[in-house]
Amino acid sequence: MKKASLILDKDFSVGEVDSKLFSSFVEPLGRCIYGGIYEPGHPLADEHGFRKDVLELTRALHLTMNRFPGGNFVSTYRWEDGIGPREKRPRRADPAWQSIETNAFGLNEFAEWSKRNGSDVMMTVNLATRGVLEAMDCVEYCNMDSGTYWSDLRASHGYRKPHGYRYWCLSNEIDGVWQVGQKHGGEYGCLAREASKGMKLLDGHIKTVLAGSSSPGMNTFPAFDAAALEEAYDFVDYLSVHQYIGNRSGDLKSFLARPIMTEQFFKSVAATCDYIQAKVRSKKKMLISFDEFNVWHTVTSEERFHKTWQIAPPLLEDCYTMADAVALGGMLLAILHHADRIGIACLSELVNCISHIRTRNGGGAWVLPPYYVYQHYSLYGRGTSLRTAMRSDTYDCADFSEVPFVDAAAVQNEDGSLTVFAINRSLEESAPFSIELRGFGEYRVAQHIVLKSDAPEDTNSEQEPMRVAPHSDGNAGIQDGLICADLAPLSWNVIRLVEIAR
Ligand code: AHR
Repeated sequence: MKKASLILDKDFSVGEVDSKLFSSFVEPLGRCIYGGIYEPGHPLADEHGFRKDVLELTRALHLTMNRFPGGNFVSTYRWEDGIGPREKRPRRADPAWQSIETNAFGLNEFAEWSKRNGSDVMMTVNLATRGVLEAMDCVEYCNMDSGTYWSDLRASHGYRKPHGYRYWCLSNEIDGVWQVGQKHGGEYGCLAREASKGMKLLDGHIKTVLAGSSSPGMNTFPAFDAAALEEAYDFVDYLSVHQYIGNRSGDLKSFLARPIMTEQFFKSVAATCDYIQAKVRSKKKMLISFDEFNVWHTVTSEERFHKTWQIAPPLLEDCYTMADAVALGGMLLAILHHADRIGIACLSELVNCISHIRTRNGGGAWVLPPYYVYQHYSLYGRGTSLRTAMRSDTYDCADFSEVPFVDAAAVQNEDGSLTVFAINRSLEESAPFSIELRGFGEYRVAQHIVLKSDAPEDTNSEQEPMRVAPHSDGNAGIQDGLICADLAPLSWNVIRLVEIAR
């Protein structure tokens, strides 16, 4: 029996959870857009060609913002290719994914789709192979009212009202050797500073995101981030970092423990930002934009080089399982634990590629088990993240020692209710879990949602879309003043507590 306990104290919080921690990422990669969110001619496509089945699944995630269009894709992207009459838009070779980009879907289509989805847009500009002026032109096109070349051009394309995008990424993973236009930290920092300066002169409301390390495993982490920050610190608002976790070694216990690295990554990134803050004598605390994260198993290079130069080939279509749901859950707990430093978090990506929403061209749309974990996090993770005093039995595995079987995060929601998210990493045993509330009023258990399955590799498919789905059948209840629950082996749990009215 693997025991675990949690103490929550009303006076000890991490901080407010920013609504932008419930964001995602859409890239013209594989079938994310074409055959994913956009498929004219599909029986469920609307007048814009947007798949209504995908829109429905996306809306149910209550996303705040979506990052677009990259990703590696952005490093050779000319944003102007995707505006104006479709028939005049050029077809281009996209070297990042060795695919053909038709540009049928550009920034105005993304604006339309986002409106229907109820979310904002975070734009990424290309500073890898383009420069400051092209980035400024994009701001002028999207955000200026009228009376200039680019704003009038937007109006002529049917968008009189500016899109008014607030959040702008200054390129993507520019530290990576796989990037066309890779740069050293200091070199990139100078370029990003000038771009940010120019973009903010056109629109003083925008916030810019400096591209930091593409993974904690980069040899250049955190030196790249420090060098870039040192050049640009006071001119940007966020530092972007990315992390994907996978199970390439095949050791499931180590895979499930990998979110420990997410926690460590956040601490190191925050420390790097604080070091540069001290070094440049800035008053500003830099926030982290964790604008790509997920579980990712497929090996990119194999896929890319086997299926070359097609339009929207099926790339990176990982078939996520119950084990992946628990691993993703661990990453989401880490985000909530660091809600004081993370200002933006984008699940990568939204449809088909490294995604929990899957479609068949011309066919159905369905969701994989981690979809539900993210949905719960988005529905119940808003409010104030509470400090978690956790105790849990631990295990050792190939890559880590003393891994807690149980991990949890807790949020006091805006309506005063409390939500505790918990994972049990044990593959064999359920874990008795107790929660002690200190300084709160009297609460009762309103719901205990559980996502579990018979085997770690269980998943859903078009034929069996509900094989792994959540149920409100957990046994959380009050015993001797504590909230007690049994957490099933390899499970994701959401325990919802509401105050008893007096
Ligand atoms: O999300 C897939 C890719 O992963 C993105 O294009 C890139 O930024 C990262 O390496």
